[in-house]
Amino acid sequence: MIKDKILVIGASGQIGVELTLALRKVYGNANVVASDLREENDLLKGTGPYVSLDVMNKEMLHVQVIRQNITQIYLLAAILSATGEKNPNLAWNLNMQGLLNVLDIAREEQIHKVYWPSSIAVFGPTSPKINCPQQTIIEPITVYGISKYAGEFWCNYYYQRYGVDVRSLRYPGLISYKSAPGGGTTDYAIEIFHAALEEKIYTCFLKEDTYLPMMYMPDAIKATLSLMEAPKEQITVRTSYNVAAMSFSPKEIAAAIQQHIPEFTIQYAPDYRQAIANSWPQSIDDTAARRDWNWKPDFNLELMTAEMITNLQH
Ligand code: NAD
Ligand code: SER
Repeated sequence: MIKDKILVIGASGQIGVELTLALRKVYGNANVVASDLREENDLLKGTGPYVSLDVMNKEMLHVQVIRQNITQIYLLAAILSATGEKNPNLAWNLNMQGLLNVLDIAREEQIHKVYWPSSIAVFGPTSPKINCPQQTIIEPITVYGISKYAGEFWCNYYYQRYGVDVRSLRYPGLISYKSAPGGGTTDYAIEIFHAALEEKIYTCFLKEDTYLPMMYMPDAIKATLSLMEAPKEQITVRTSYNVAAMSFSPKEIAAAIQQHIPEFTIQYAPDYRQAIANSWPQSIDDTAARRDWNWKPDFNLELMTAEMITNLQH
């Protein structure tokens, strides 16, 4: 049996740090190569190999894949929704070309599996707001959403046409305390914890009743590993799976935090990110993920809030 050797691209980011550490636990430290354009995150230092890598440089990426005997690639490098609206060309170029570079190399080098995350941002104002289905009207209005939807179809294309085993999840907004978020519309749900603990007041860039689908990072890591470990014949969705855990508004997360920090207050100053949030569903139907690879989240709003506060206090 060939031993898997994994390359994580974008390993110093919000998901990358925790996913790299989780993969190292499963596959062994030496078998998970972390890579990023920016410097190695402090939490990764000393835990395994790290290479500096630009996913836009296809030749260098190809050399690394061959040199390191890579058999699986996790591609996390992307520009997220809020940053993407500030620089649409940059977001489109990185999110599309980065993926195509990885898919091409995966095809040429017969990489066993590729992981690439999509997002709830694929959905647009014409998609159903409540329990948004796996297959529905999808008309994204952000460059990030457009790039994710196009990316889903490239993944499907490379699977159908070339047999590349590429798998994907439409993550909701991810909440974590280990590494900072990278410029998304859902970042408020992380900022609010830091503000609650430090200043005891938070000014939210979304309105109080803006419901969005969210997930605590341990659930996102669990979903990713479960999807990637599932037998190939169980994967029926080759674009990207809906996954859900919880939905809440800024007012509701503030109330959950006040259970732990009664003096905390929130005020609202919506900005350009409100329009992005308004275009997304409020909740997601993840029946296909539950059916195909037994997806089930562990954290709701209350459990996540308690853990975030405990971990950020230490
Ligand atoms: P992030 O911005 O925190 O991390 C991305 C990492 O990619 C950064 O460390 C960055 O330095 C690196 N990077 C950027 N350009 C690069 C390049 N050219 N070459 C190599 N590395 C490069 O993002 P994240 O939140 O960790 O998101 C990872 C993936 O998950 C993205 O595809 C994102 O769209 C998706 N996603 C994230 C969320 C979320 O809430 N965080 C939700 C849905 C989907
Ligand atoms: N959390 C991400 C964002 O807000 C969703 O993909 O951009």
